[in-house]
Amino acid sequence: MRVLVTGGSGVNGSWVVRDLVGRGHETAVFENRADTTLIADVVADVEFVVGDVGDPGQLAETVTRLRPDCIIHLAAFVDCERDPHRAISVNVGGTASVCAAAVAAGVRRVVYTSSKAVYAPATGERGFPGYAPVAEDSELHPTGMYGISKLAAENVMAWYGRNHGLDCVSLRFATIFGPGRLQRHAGPINTYSSMIELPASGRPFTVDHGGDERDDIIYVLDVADAITTVALAPEPLRHPAYNVAAGRPVSMREFAAAIRRVIPGAALEVGPGTDPMSMPDPYYMALDGARLEEELGWRPRFDLDRAIRHYHELVQSRRS
Ligand SMILES: NC(=O)c1ccc[n+]([C@@H]2O[C@H](COP(=O)([O-])OP(=O)(O)OC[C@H]3O[C@@H](n4cnc5c(N)ncnc54)[C@H](O)[C@@H]3O)[C@@H](O)[C@H]2O)c1
Repeated sequence: MRVLVTGGSGVNGSWVVRDLVGRGHETAVFENRADTTLIADVVADVEFVVGDVGDPGQLAETVTRLRPDCIIHLAAFVDCERDPHRAISVNVGGTASVCAAAVAAGVRRVVYTSSKAVYAPATGERGFPGYAPVAEDSELHPTGMYGISKLAAENVMAWYGRNHGLDCVSLRFATIFGPGRLQRHAGPINTYSSMIELPASGRPFTVDHGGDERDDIIYVLDVADAITTVALAPEPLRHPAYNVAAGRPVSMREFAAAIRRVIPGAALEVGPGTDPMSMPDPYYMALDGARLEEELGWRPRFDLDRAIRHYHELVQSRRS
């Protein structure tokens, strides 16, 4: 199969590209940054196009030339509270341009990488301490600009599905951790990755509050596996949106204990209480992953210990 991956040299995209190349699919990347560090091991096997999803002409020309069977759309702007106009322009406008280019070139399917942020804020039943699992048909009233832009993009996808027969699927991810995040993302959204990566390189990690907060966290390799499973599914999918989650909320304290099992002597200090990331629009929650499992049989392959071990080994191999 021929697959075009927007944002394919980012944190999640790099693992998607590695997965596709490993399975023998013809893979192209559409990226506004020429930095291929995170896909250095597979870049020779992909067509790399430097371009912006905000440029509909270049996108349409690329999609028409490459004629992919599927587009996996990961390119996004995440610092949405700081620059809401850019958030709408890249996340919503860019998604509309991807869909329009796909229709014009006869692409069969577009897979969009949405987020559990569409379910935020996780207050009441969805949040601490009960964390009632959130299913895809739950009410959606995001208040943060990231969630607002992700939901708007999902609605644009659905419009192209209804009006142009494009097979459009949105995947709503739980909180993702994994290698590459510390290089590419700054700030508290890296908390789970920092908890592994700092001790793995002999440095301490401290957060003075939040140990009792639970969250549905998923390893980046499982995220990539879910994306490619959906992208390569032979039949059209039955629903417009699917949660991609571990399905069990883990507390920061449990996460720290699992890290200590894998990295004995890890210097981790996690204080009590909630909201370790001090978020204005908290989205610590549990997602119900049954829909994707029932329809495509997809389940995460990495439990906590296996994910931490894999991550730790990667950090070690990069240091040696
Ligand atoms: N990381 C998470 O926890 C998480 C959770 C849920 C959803 N997501 C979604 O998954 C997707 C990928 O996330 P990530 O963590 O890999 O992000 P990332 O920033 O590492 O990757 C995104 C890539 O898109 C590229 N890009 C940005 N704007 C572009 C544009 N205008 N044109 C072309 N390329 C552009 C960037 O250069 C980057 O390489 C995003 O859509 C994100 O919203 C991430």
